[in-house]
Amino acid sequence: MKIISVVTEKGGAAKTTLAWHLGIHLDNKRGNRVLLLDADAKQRTLWKTFDFFRDAPQPIINEAHTGNIDEKLAEARDLGFTHVIIDTPPHVGAAVEKAVKIADLILAPLAVSPLDALTFNDTYEVIQANKRPGAKAFSVLTRAGTRSQATVDVFKEFLATNCPELPQAPTVMHERAAYRDSIQSGKGLTETRDLRSMAARNEIIKLAKFIEKEIK
Ligand SMILES: Nc1ncnc2c1ncn2[C@@H]1O[C@H](COP(=O)(O)OP(=O)(O)OP(=O)(O)O)[C@@H](O)[C@H]1O
Ligand SMILES: [Mg+2]
Repeated sequence: MKIISVVTEKGGAAKTTLAWHLGIHLDNKRGNRVLLLDADAKQRTLWKTFDFFRDAPQPIINEAHTGNIDEKLAEARDLGFTHVIIDTPPHVGAAVEKAVKIADLILAPLAVSPLDALTFNDTYEVIQANKRPGAKAFSVLTRAGTRSQATVDVFKEFLATNCPELPQAPTVMHERAAYRDSIQSGKGLTETRDLRSMAARNEIIKLAKFIEKEIK
């Protein structure tokens, strides 16, 4: 069973959005069974959003906190889950440290905005300090303007310089209404055939392929 933790100190970086779309996409793949864990005990956004918008019975979602996460993981192993994706709160603390410690792969989204870049160092530090040997960790740029390639390049350079031991996932998630609209219809991006969702859908497929290759 592979554990993927989505971690960034700054709010709004797209942690929950990523957990939703990646979780549903991976769960729909033959042979996979995904457990989503919402470890953002204060906001409970992933849990609430699933409860309200999603009719499908899968993937399974649970709430978790530092006190019960080991138990949830042991249960998931016994039940034959292949992947656990953990959504975390937007502040470094026990829940984030725990999610980093237990992960096989850590995904650290950074929104392409100057307001986010300056806090990313805290995320980098918590990952470097808690990641277990052998675990992988990647940053992923999110919410990038679709016409702002030059800004994206500046952010790539920023990450390469400031977070040298956190390689960058080879996908950029752009700011696209489809990321939100598909959630509103209770679906993962890869469950919709709507032509307007294709660009976002392809970003998730590319990111998921990369993650699967890395945790194989
Ligand atoms: N690529 C995107 N395109 C368009 N909207 C997006 C994208 N990613 C996220 N959003 C929107 O941005 C907002 C913040 O996203 P989300 O809740 O996933 O971030 P978060 O990192 O989980 O935030 P928090 O730290 O508060 O938990 C939401 O309204 C979401 O719908
Ligand atoms: Mg969230």
